[in-house]
Amino acid sequence: MVSHSPVLKVALKKNETAESVELHPETVMKPSNLDYMRVRASGTLNGEIPIAGAKNAALKHLCATMLTGDVVQFNNLPVALKDIQTLAALLQEMGVRVSLNANGSGIFQADQITSTTAPYDLVRKMRASVLVMGPLLARMGHAEVSLPGGCSIGTRPIDMHLDGFRAMGAEIELHEGYVRAIAPKGGLMGAEILFPKVSVGATENVMMAATLAKGTTRLMNAAREPEISDQAEALIKMGAKISGHGTDTITIEGVPHLSGCTHDVIADRIETGTFMVAVALTGGTVKLKKTQTQFLTSLIGPLRKANVTIESDGDDVIIHRNGKPLRGTDIMTEPYPGFATDLQAQFMTMLTMCEGAGMVTETIFENRFMHVPELCRMGANITVQGNSAIIRGVKKLKGAEVMATDLRASVSLILAGLVAEGETIVNRIYHLDRGYENLVGKLQACGADVTRGRHADDLEA
Ligand code: UD1
Repeated sequence: MVSHSPVLKVALKKNETAESVELHPETVMKPSNLDYMRVRASGTLNGEIPIAGAKNAALKHLCATMLTGDVVQFNNLPVALKDIQTLAALLQEMGVRVSLNANGSGIFQADQITSTTAPYDLVRKMRASVLVMGPLLARMGHAEVSLPGGCSIGTRPIDMHLDGFRAMGAEIELHEGYVRAIAPKGGLMGAEILFPKVSVGATENVMMAATLAKGTTRLMNAAREPEISDQAEALIKMGAKISGHGTDTITIEGVPHLSGCTHDVIADRIETGTFMVAVALTGGTVKLKKTQTQFLTSLIGPLRKANVTIESDGDDVIIHRNGKPLRGTDIMTEPYPGFATDLQAQFMTMLTMCEGAGMVTETIFENRFMHVPELCRMGANITVQGNSAIIRGVKKLKGAEVMATDLRASVSLILAGLVAEGETIVNRIYHLDRGYENLVGKLQACGADVTRGRHADDLEA
């Protein structure tokens, strides 16, 4: 749990002091690599699930708070997520005053940045920490960031982030595992930047840096993810001049200062999609609360082909599959608005039980089929050829002891456990704490038989 000192007193409402923070016990419990999830098949899922704020938007919002000395408040933050707490701890190390509240609000003030270094022990836990670089470089003129770690789903370089900063006049050097970036004397300068490949992180990092640069920056072949648009909207509230977000060309006219703002984080489309796939797999009817279908078109199409019904109901989404068999269908991951790579493992789990066969092609990350051998241990019939996998539906999966290797792979194995005969133990589920708030509680509320446990110390999982 993040330390809440120094406490930010301003802007806190009555009964909303930092001392009153109570985060969900699931994540307050110190996660360990001995933690596991026990899952037993329990029929269809039925009920309601509240959807959290988007992790991948929230992380960037936290970084952007360093662009101003004013108070910035975000609501609908998924504060119980380990990634949010890790990044909040990193910001605190840098002198930012942080208050995360159990009601999902987070208040930040970077009036005094005391360090511009993101150390190895924090960055290695989470790759997104590299996104402090753009704001630090823009506001402080320098940044030193350890080369990132994160999910083990490929080599994941940051060359395009660094080339973007270079184009804006920064000098970049590598020194003992750290990237050191120094802005020119007069500050970063606007530039025309054509990304050779679509990158969410590089688009965001350079967009943040450009808000305080001198002149205009144009980002071409930019990523179009809804989380980037959400970030641009928050930056605009802070006084940034940004246009074109949501398209592949973003224009940022630099301004001398940014100021405070209050912003509500958009709903997590990956959490939404994960539960949609869960219901598709188990059958049943679940209402996903406070989310939209708008950003999930590329998932909804294949789900409908597979015989799943999805309806919007105001701020909620209702998903059901009652009686009809799951039909095999093909997907290929692509940058937004294509099928999200963060939903690929879950979708593949669904296909293991389909009628016929489906094909999954992964084009974003080169090492993102690590859930395949684990699913096969549960009886799935999957053949991998290069970056494609053919999944031939089987009548049943069988419970087994399996190992989670990254965030989305972890949840895909839990979904498999929901329909597998017998008991499934998913080991090393600490990855889940990074990206799913109260997953156990949300699944239990819909009738799933899921519990979390911890192996004895001498049984390292
Ligand atoms: C973000 C998401 C992650 C999602 C991914 C793709 C966050 C915190 N994470 O990750 O959940 O799976 O987008 O939708 O928002 N690349 C380079 N050079 C670079 C940067 C990226 O070659 O400088 C490559 C990567 O290795 C990868 C591809 O570009 O093959 C896309 O990566 P990118 O979009 O940058 O992903 P992240 O921002 O790291």
